[in-house]
Amino acid sequence: MKILVVVAHGRANSLTRQVAEAFALSAREKGHEVEVADLVKERFDPVLTEVDEPDWNDPDKTYSEAVRREMARIERNEATVMVFPVWWWSMPAILKGWIDRVWNHGWAYGPRSYPHKRVLMIAIAGNGRETYEKRDYDKAMQLQLATGILDYCGVEDGRLETLYGAIEGNDAPNQILHSASALGAAF
Ligand SMILES: Cc1cc2nc3c(=O)[nH]c(=O)nc-3n(C[C@H](O)[C@H](O)[C@H](O)COP(=O)(O)O)c2cc1C
Repeated sequence: MKILVVVAHGRANSLTRQVAEAFALSAREKGHEVEVADLVKERFDPVLTEVDEPDWNDPDKTYSEAVRREMARIERNEATVMVFPVWWWSMPAILKGWIDRVWNHGWAYGPRSYPHKRVLMIAIAGNGRETYEKRDYDKAMQLQLATGILDYCGVEDGRLETLYGAIEGNDAPNQILHSASALGAAF
Protein backbone atom coordinates (compact mmCIF):
# COMPACT_ATOMS: atom_id res chain seq x y z
CA MET A 1 0.00 0.00 0.00
CA LYS A 2 1.18 3.57 -0.68
CA ILE A 3 1.07 5.57 2.53
CA LEU A 4 1.35 9.34 2.83
CA VAL A 5 2.89 10.15 6.22
CA VAL A 6 2.10 13.76 7.14
CA VAL A 7 4.40 15.17 9.82
CA ALA A 8 3.67 18.35 11.76
CA HIS A 9 6.75 19.29 13.78
CA GLY A 10 9.57 21.67 12.95
CA ARG A 11 12.34 20.33 15.20
CA ALA A 12 14.54 17.70 13.62
CA ASN A 13 15.15 15.75 16.84
CA SER A 14 11.56 15.99 18.11
CA LEU A 15 9.94 12.86 19.40
CA THR A 16 7.21 13.47 16.82
CA ARG A 17 9.69 13.13 13.94
CA GLN A 18 11.24 10.07 15.56
CA VAL A 19 7.78 8.54 15.81
CA ALA A 20 7.17 9.28 12.12
CA GLU A 21 10.51 7.66 11.22
CA ALA A 22 9.86 4.60 13.41
CA PHE A 23 6.40 4.18 11.88
CA ALA A 24 7.76 4.59 8.33
CA LEU A 25 10.62 2.15 8.90
CA SER A 26 8.43 -0.69 10.09
CA ALA A 27 5.74 0.05 7.49
CA ARG A 28 8.41 -0.15 4.76
CA GLU A 29 9.74 -3.39 6.26
CA LYS A 30 6.25 -4.74 5.90
CA GLY A 31 6.28 -3.88 2.20
CA HIS A 32 4.41 -0.57 2.17
CA GLU A 33 5.66 2.41 0.17
CA VAL A 34 5.94 5.57 2.25
CA GLU A 35 5.93 9.16 1.03
CA VAL A 36 6.53 11.87 3.63
CA ALA A 37 4.79 15.24 3.67
CA ASP A 38 6.82 17.41 6.01
CA LEU A 39 4.53 20.39 6.48
CA VAL A 40 6.87 22.66 8.46
CA LYS A 41 9.93 21.97 6.32
CA GLU A 42 7.87 22.55 3.20
CA ARG A 43 6.51 25.74 4.77
CA PHE A 44 2.92 24.80 4.09
CA ASP A 45 0.74 27.87 4.55
CA PRO A 46 -2.13 26.90 6.89
CA VAL A 47 -4.12 30.11 6.41
CA LEU A 48 -7.36 29.58 4.54
CA THR A 49 -8.05 32.54 2.28
CA GLU A 50 -11.02 33.26 0.04
CA VAL A 51 -9.72 31.25 -2.91
CA ASP A 52 -9.90 28.06 -0.79
CA GLU A 53 -13.15 28.80 0.98
CA PRO A 54 -15.86 26.31 0.10
CA ASP A 55 -18.64 27.41 -2.20
CA TRP A 56 -21.59 25.46 -0.78
CA ASN A 57 -23.38 25.76 -4.13
CA ASP A 58 -20.45 24.49 -6.15
CA PRO A 59 -18.85 21.19 -5.09
CA ASP A 60 -16.66 21.36 -8.22
CA LYS A 61 -15.01 24.66 -7.25
CA THR A 62 -11.39 24.90 -8.39
CA TYR A 63 -9.18 25.55 -5.37
CA SER A 64 -5.74 27.21 -5.30
CA GLU A 65 -2.75 25.60 -6.98
CA ALA A 66 -1.15 24.87 -3.59
CA VAL A 67 -4.26 23.01 -2.48
CA ARG A 68 -4.57 21.13 -5.78
CA ARG A 69 -0.94 20.04 -5.36
CA GLU A 70 -1.74 18.64 -1.90
CA MET A 71 -4.84 16.90 -3.25
CA ALA A 72 -2.73 15.30 -5.98
CA ARG A 73 -0.16 14.14 -3.42
CA ILE A 74 -2.94 12.48 -1.43
CA GLU A 75 -4.50 10.96 -4.55
CA ARG A 76 -1.27 9.27 -5.61
CA ASN A 77 -1.27 7.46 -2.25
CA GLU A 78 -3.74 4.97 -0.78
CA ALA A 79 -3.68 5.74 2.94
CA THR A 80 -2.86 8.71 5.17
CA VAL A 81 -1.01 8.70 8.47
CA MET A 82 -0.72 12.00 10.35
CA VAL A 83 1.92 12.27 13.06
CA PHE A 84 1.75 15.25 15.39
CA PRO A 85 2.34 16.43 18.95
CA VAL A 86 -0.69 17.25 21.07
CA TRP A 87 -0.73 21.01 21.46
CA TRP A 88 -3.52 22.35 23.62
CA TRP A 89 -5.39 19.05 23.54
CA SER A 90 -5.52 19.09 19.76
CA MET A 91 -3.31 19.15 16.69
CA PRO A 92 -0.81 21.92 15.80
CA ALA A 93 -2.22 24.79 13.75
CA ILE A 94 -0.20 23.86 10.66
CA LEU A 95 -1.90 20.46 10.46
CA LYS A 96 -5.30 21.90 11.27
CA GLY A 97 -4.76 24.41 8.44
CA TRP A 98 -3.73 21.60 6.09
CA ILE A 99 -7.07 19.95 6.81
CA ASP A 100 -8.98 23.26 6.64
CA ARG A 101 -7.59 23.99 3.20
CA VAL A 102 -7.07 20.60 1.58
CA TRP A 103 -9.85 18.42 2.98
CA ASN A 104 -12.26 20.70 1.25
CA HIS A 105 -15.93 20.69 0.28
CA GLY A 106 -16.66 18.62 -2.83
CA TRP A 107 -13.38 16.72 -2.47
CA ALA A 108 -13.28 15.31 1.09
CA TYR A 109 -16.91 15.85 2.13
CA GLY A 110 -20.22 16.90 0.64
CA PRO A 111 -21.03 14.86 -2.43
CA ARG A 112 -17.64 13.06 -2.22
CA SER A 113 -15.60 11.44 0.54
CA TYR A 114 -11.90 11.65 1.42
CA PRO A 115 -10.04 9.53 -1.18
CA HIS A 116 -8.55 7.10 1.36
CA LYS A 117 -10.49 4.45 3.26
CA ARG A 118 -7.70 4.17 5.79
CA VAL A 119 -6.46 7.12 7.84
CA LEU A 120 -4.49 6.95 11.06
CA MET A 121 -3.78 9.91 13.31
CA ILE A 122 -0.87 9.38 15.69
CA ALA A 123 -0.88 12.00 18.43
CA ILE A 124 2.11 12.26 20.78
CA ALA A 125 1.00 13.50 24.17
CA GLY A 126 3.29 15.14 26.70
CA ASN A 127 1.01 14.19 29.58
CA GLY A 128 0.11 10.72 30.80
CA ARG A 129 -3.13 8.89 30.11
CA GLU A 130 -4.42 9.65 33.64
CA THR A 131 -4.23 13.40 33.01
CA TYR A 132 -6.33 12.93 29.89
CA GLU A 133 -8.89 10.70 31.58
CA LYS A 134 -9.22 13.03 34.55
CA ARG A 135 -10.76 15.75 32.39
CA ASP A 136 -12.00 13.68 29.45
CA TYR A 137 -9.46 15.22 27.08
CA ASP A 138 -9.08 11.74 25.52
CA LYS A 139 -12.80 11.63 24.74
CA ALA A 140 -12.77 15.22 23.52
CA MET A 141 -9.95 14.45 21.07
CA GLN A 142 -11.63 11.29 19.83
CA LEU A 143 -14.86 13.17 19.24
CA GLN A 144 -13.30 16.18 17.59
CA LEU A 145 -10.63 14.49 15.47
CA ALA A 146 -11.80 10.93 14.79
CA THR A 147 -15.57 11.56 14.65
CA GLY A 148 -15.58 15.21 13.64
CA ILE A 149 -13.03 14.91 10.84
CA LEU A 150 -12.44 11.28 9.82
CA ASP A 151 -16.00 9.98 10.18
CA TYR A 152 -17.38 13.20 8.78
CA CYS A 153 -15.26 12.76 5.65
CA GLY A 154 -16.45 9.18 5.16
CA VAL A 155 -13.17 7.47 6.12
CA GLU A 156 -14.20 3.86 6.78
CA ASP A 157 -11.10 2.83 8.70
CA GLY A 158 -10.23 6.02 10.52
CA ARG A 159 -8.48 6.01 13.88
CA LEU A 160 -6.82 8.30 16.38
CA GLU A 161 -4.04 6.64 18.42
CA THR A 162 -2.67 8.75 21.24
CA LEU A 163 0.78 7.80 22.54
CA TYR A 164 0.86 9.15 26.07
CA GLY A 165 3.52 10.47 28.41
CA ALA A 166 6.26 11.96 26.23
CA ILE A 167 7.22 14.26 29.09
CA GLU A 168 5.80 12.51 32.16
CA GLY A 169 7.70 9.37 33.18
CA ASN A 170 11.33 8.43 32.51
CA ASP A 171 10.88 5.56 30.13
CA ALA A 172 8.06 7.06 28.09
CA PRO A 173 9.89 8.15 24.91
CA ASN A 174 11.20 4.62 24.38
CA GLN A 175 7.78 3.14 24.93
CA ILE A 176 6.30 5.66 22.50
CA LEU A 177 8.83 4.73 19.81
CA HIS A 178 8.12 1.08 20.42
CA SER A 179 4.37 1.73 19.97
CA ALA A 180 5.08 3.70 16.79
CA SER A 181 7.00 0.74 15.30
CA ALA A 182 4.16 -1.58 16.30
CA LEU A 183 1.64 0.68 14.55
CA GLY A 184 3.79 0.59 11.39
CA ALA A 185 4.09 -3.18 11.54
CA ALA A 186 0.35 -3.61 12.02
CA PHE A 187 -0.66 -1.18 9.29
C1 LIG B 1 2.42 24.70 22.44
C2 LIG B 1 2.43 23.39 23.14
C3 LIG B 1 1.27 22.91 23.68
C4 LIG B 1 1.23 21.67 24.31
N1 LIG B 1 0.03 21.19 24.78
C5 LIG B 1 -0.02 19.94 25.27
C6 LIG B 1 -1.28 19.39 25.66
O1 LIG B 1 -2.32 20.03 25.56
N2 LIG B 1 -1.30 18.13 26.13
C7 LIG B 1 -0.17 17.36 26.21
O2 LIG B 1 -0.27 16.18 26.61
N3 LIG B 1 1.03 17.84 25.86
C8 LIG B 1 1.13 19.12 25.40
N4 LIG B 1 2.35 19.63 24.98
C9 LIG B 1 3.52 18.75 25.04
C10 LIG B 1 3.76 18.07 23.69
O3 LIG B 1 2.71 17.23 23.36
C11 LIG B 1 5.09 17.32 23.74
O4 LIG B 1 6.09 18.28 23.80
C12 LIG B 1 5.34 16.44 22.57
O5 LIG B 1 4.38 15.47 22.43
C13 LIG B 1 6.64 15.75 22.81
O6 LIG B 1 7.50 15.71 21.90
P1 LIG B 1 8.19 16.56 20.77
O7 LIG B 1 7.80 17.99 20.92
O8 LIG B 1 9.68 16.34 21.04
O9 LIG B 1 7.73 15.92 19.53
C14 LIG B 1 2.42 20.89 24.40
C15 LIG B 1 3.62 21.40 23.87
C16 LIG B 1 3.62 22.63 23.26
C17 LIG B 1 4.92 23.15 22.70
